[in-house]
Amino acid sequence: MAGLPRVNLAHLPTPLEEAPRLSKALGGPRILVKRDDQTGLATGGNKARKLEYLMADALAQGCTAAVTVGDLQSNHCRMTAAACRRLGLEPYLLLTGPRPPSLDGNLLLDAVLGAVIHYVTLTDQADEEHELAALADRVRAAGHRPYVIPMGGSGGVGAAGYVTAMREFLSQSAGGVDHVVVASASGGTQAGLVLGARGQPGAPRVHGISASRSREVLVDRVMRVAVAAAGLQGLEPPAPEEIAVHDEYVGPGYAVMTDACREAILLAARTEGLLLDPVYTGKAMAGLVDLIRRGYFRPGDTVVFWHTGGVPALQAYREWFA
Ligand SMILES: Cc1ncc(COP(=O)(O)O)c(C=O)c1O
Repeated sequence: MAGLPRVNLAHLPTPLEEAPRLSKALGGPRILVKRDDQTGLATGGNKARKLEYLMADALAQGCTAAVTVGDLQSNHCRMTAAACRRLGLEPYLLLTGPRPPSLDGNLLLDAVLGAVIHYVTLTDQADEEHELAALADRVRAAGHRPYVIPMGGSGGVGAAGYVTAMREFLSQSAGGVDHVVVASASGGTQAGLVLGARGQPGAPRVHGISASRSREVLVDRVMRVAVAAAGLQGLEPPAPEEIAVHDEYVGPGYAVMTDACREAILLAARTEGLLLDPVYTGKAMAGLVDLIRRGYFRPGDTVVFWHTGGVPALQAYREWFA
């Protein structure tokens, strides 16, 4: 990744595993799982790859603290806190929602990692940017030099982690994969994967399964991150038709469980011993299951489910699995 500094935080390469029992249960194509839930860094997930570039940038700028924002069960916030601890920075988190009565899942891990947590209620994007800037000011006033990381770590710098990830994957799969299915929310993971696949022989088509936004909004977001990442790395940005997004699996909203998500979580667990989460990967698997059942893929295709982690959040949804 020409010119972009990087620190080692993740356990790489992550395994690429066959999922024959899942494939058989679905009567579907060959399915492989890219195990980015195994990146390490306080239990793993996709943010470890983004943080390798984000934290290197923070260190290069002489920052002594990182400030970021996310949902109460944000995997990104938990992993940012862990990355800070590994590198000796102070983690400050802006979590959207009221302080809950008990600490579960990622929130419990945030507390164990000693992150400084501020709870806020946000109404829109402008509000988020304003609150994040205000927290950065307070951190500065406390004597730190803060590095501000956007929601999900999804800017041009963070997405570099997934450009590298696609290159890693292409050398593992040797071009034998037709489709990649991945959860998509703030867009950095999908933007990096699409950018990393550009112009590579045998590159798969990347399908983002939206965890929150409509197709139009998410395509626009992925495009914006991809353009920023391409600019930083001297790459050609993708064309809009290269951004495939499926938004039928969000259900009533972000982080709201659906029957299809619950079914997909149980299916993956009981066929492959694979744990998914209710917010991102469960919905992505619900998408994969539905696409297979609808005959979207050809029987001879090889499809990769790119597991982006998130398993700690399962704990906060225990009533669905009691
Ligand atoms: C477990 C998990 N999967 C997928 C995503 C989506 O990745 P991105 O925000 O880069 O679109 C996230 C974060 O938002 C996540 O925590």
